[in-house]
Amino acid sequence: MLATKSAIKPAIKKIIIPNNSRLHTPDFIYGVATASFQIEGGRQSRTQNIWDSFCQSAEKIEDNSNGDVACNHFQLWEDDVELIRSLNVDAYRLSISWTRVLHNDGTLNNKGIDFYINLLDKLIEYGIKPFVTFYHWDLPQHLEDKGGWLNRDTAYHFRDYTDKISRIFKDRVYSYATLNEPYCSAHLGYQDGIHAPGIKGKQFGKKAAHHLLLAHGLAMQVLQINSPQSKNGIVVNVTPTYPATDNIEDIKAANIADQDFNHWYIKPILDGKYPDLLDLMPEQHRPDILQDDLKIISTPIDYIGVNYYTRTVIQASEDDFYDIKDPSIMPLTEMDWEVYPEGFYDILTRLNNEYQLPPVYLTENGAAMPDEIIADEVNDLDRIEFFQGHLEAVHRAIEAGVDIQCYFAWSLMDNFEWARGYTKRFGLVYVDYETQQRTIKQSGFAYRDFIGSR
Ligand code: FCB
Repeated sequence: MLATKSAIKPAIKKIIIPNNSRLHTPDFIYGVATASFQIEGGRQSRTQNIWDSFCQSAEKIEDNSNGDVACNHFQLWEDDVELIRSLNVDAYRLSISWTRVLHNDGTLNNKGIDFYINLLDKLIEYGIKPFVTFYHWDLPQHLEDKGGWLNRDTAYHFRDYTDKISRIFKDRVYSYATLNEPYCSAHLGYQDGIHAPGIKGKQFGKKAAHHLLLAHGLAMQVLQINSPQSKNGIVVNVTPTYPATDNIEDIKAANIADQDFNHWYIKPILDGKYPDLLDLMPEQHRPDILQDDLKIISTPIDYIGVNYYTRTVIQASEDDFYDIKDPSIMPLTEMDWEVYPEGFYDILTRLNNEYQLPPVYLTENGAAMPDEIIADEVNDLDRIEFFQGHLEAVHRAIEAGVDIQCYFAWSLMDNFEWARGYTKRFGLVYVDYETQQRTIKQSGFAYRDFIGSR
């Protein structure tokens, strides 16, 4: 299946980081990341989730595709573990599909459980640390039918799900994340409507966010009991905001955007309170916060997972808290996201200044590039440069005092990129969706060689 001849060749371009860097120490953990809906396929073996439904509604997904087959990882997982192993990584970050492991009545789906147990056992056999995320956006549709994340009960269903699964996985998991990127679930899914379940309205986003954060806190309490040996925390996406000009109005707007994107999902967890934006928001946009919610949400975490892709430039708005300015200065990836490694350094050091941070796990970083496979090779030098710049930024953030312990490249392989379908490729490994052939890209070799050089 793999282009094995090229698999032994060294990368044509190297990632180079100063010799004395913490990034070269053997206990720094490198990994690759994926998510269930984006790679698994195996649709017949699970029940409907909100992304299945979203894909069925017209014009939501750029190429009208869905996750029914994706990378067919559900069947090809053993080959994929070999692939992961061949990249020399210390860890693999995956997510559990809620609708694969539980039936709609909440009972265990043994076929789905076996799938993950076999996968975890194989990773462990190879000495690859499993990092498991419970929720990477694929809510069971039957819960959405009762209001999804707008319904407080969903947080308790999530708690029960994490309880059942963490008991069954026993001590197999090195690190659990409760949620991946609650901002995206809440804001993109329930406010902007560009992700599943496609709900739009300013009155919904923060209500959904609050129930997601509550779900996180409840699950942390479960994990403290069921899995005290693993490193348990949450994964948030961050984007440093920069005012478009030195104008005081733009500076104020950038500060509010920073609260909206970043602190809304960090401050309640680390400090037990929402940022000041809460008081600025109209009453009907605010979440319903019950007594003790913030106490539950701020249950101590062992680490904070951080995903970084790009920065955001902000200007004052006539009719809203802020406007996002189109990126213009730096090169853009296929997602039209600015390549801005300095932003990685900035956000990590800003967060470190503002909070008493637990250890930081960098759980996603990567780029969609216009890859083409030519004669068995993908020469994605632009992606190698992306990793070079961003790893340098991580190195500098560590030098500046941020306690960073892992780095995960997004993604192991090309996959279903949500609303962009299969049109955007983030993989270190190229996937031919017709044949399911995997081919390691030059960036995959460069990452492998970099990790191997420690
Ligand atoms: C992140 C998601 C991940 C992937 C990357 C490109 O926001 O967590 O699933 O889609 O973006």
